[in-house]
Amino acid sequence: MIKAVTGTRDILPTDIPKWKYLESIIKSVFTLYNYKEIRTPVFEETSLFARGIGEATDIVSKEMYTFLDRSGESLTLRPEMTAGVVRAFIEHSLDKKQNLSKLYYVSPMFRQERPQAGRLRQFHQFGAEAIGSYDPLLDAEMIIMAYEIFKALGLKNLLVKINSLGVPASREDYKKKLAEYLQPYFDKLSNESKKRFETNILRIFDSKEAEDQKIMKDAPLLIDHLDDESLSHFAKVKQVLTSAQIPFEIDAMLVRGLDYYTNTTFEIVSGSVGSQSALCGGGRYNGLVKELGGDDVPGVGFAAGMERILLACENEKSFSLNDETVDLYLVVIEKELGNYAYQTAVELRRKGLIVDMDYLGRSVKAQMREANKLNTGFVLFIGGEEYAKGELVLKNMKDGNQKSFPKDDLEKIFSSIKEN
Ligand code: HAM
Repeated sequence: MIKAVTGTRDILPTDIPKWKYLESIIKSVFTLYNYKEIRTPVFEETSLFARGIGEATDIVSKEMYTFLDRSGESLTLRPEMTAGVVRAFIEHSLDKKQNLSKLYYVSPMFRQERPQAGRLRQFHQFGAEAIGSYDPLLDAEMIIMAYEIFKALGLKNLLVKINSLGVPASREDYKKKLAEYLQPYFDKLSNESKKRFETNILRIFDSKEAEDQKIMKDAPLLIDHLDDESLSHFAKVKQVLTSAQIPFEIDAMLVRGLDYYTNTTFEIVSGSVGSQSALCGGGRYNGLVKELGGDDVPGVGFAAGMERILLACENEKSFSLNDETVDLYLVVIEKELGNYAYQTAVELRRKGLIVDMDYLGRSVKAQMREANKLNTGFVLFIGGEEYAKGELVLKNMKDGNQKSFPKDDLEKIFSSIKEN
């Protein structure tokens, strides 16, 4: 038997209502903040991600689904959206149309990671990017929007972590200091961290190895070596979050796994989902547009993992939805009236009712069982003595009341159902 590929998942009809609910909250919050939806292709030229996210990152060096197409071009299934959104921003000169582009997305992403709870190879992100302004209000806005979405879902066990990585110049000075500090411990570092010492020394803060963590506990922190402008930018972000009543914590070790960040970085983690606890992550990327061939335009954004969020909602039982139901089920008493029943269903659907009926030639008893299973509001009986008199019987399944209607007056049947 052929099964779904490891790390990919079917979203079955029974799961769809919670996905739709999540999507409706995402859309309404982004709309309130006047972000507009953008959809970009699922695959892009590989070099877009290599240049955008950084060659040395885990995503680019280990996790991308990269393939050569039939013309020999190297393409990659997108592991994240920011690079693609920035590519579209440059390609369509969005900055010529509007000084500030406020964009949002809800889309599948692909990373070849080791699957576990909350970590998949095809997963879904929603996120936002604001391209065109240095204003720290927008850094705070990303955190506020994510937080509002999580709150609207009823999530409680949340922690907002923020940090600042400063500008590349002050970071380069700091990296030298960090290297000086680490030099004497180099032999004790894990192999992965030894590699990162050369390629991206900041990422040693992300190591999960106990020995590495012990060494990093006393390492100098970037936040203590920021230039004045970065410090005042960060101060404004904190001030806005405080006035918006978003509780946050400063995590000076939060470096994030993508190379494009400058200044603010943040994550919101949940205490309800186990080790893969980051529900969202993001930050400012003032050099990315230029890096990808555009003008020197700043940006800031975030993305959130939808499977993880739904897992947190499930574990916290943060919301419940009403069962899906149908308005009307047609019970066909005489088989030869099947066509007539079907035509009636079509007409009532055209009026806007959710209607279902039997397609399996079942007995009246089995049709009633099905109607109950579907939790239908009403049953319309087609056939029997009433039908012979030119009438159809409508049964209200909530109170058991029955009413007869002239067979050709579907408008009356429709209004009677709609009134309830
Ligand atoms: P990221 O931290 O790589 O950032 O991913 C954002 C979120 O996507 C994570 O916090 C997590 O919830 C979810 N996620 C990531 N990988 C997986 C996976 N394998 N399975 C399930 N969920 C996952 C970015 O992607 C940046 N583009 C965020 C950003 C936007 N920064 C600025 N603008």
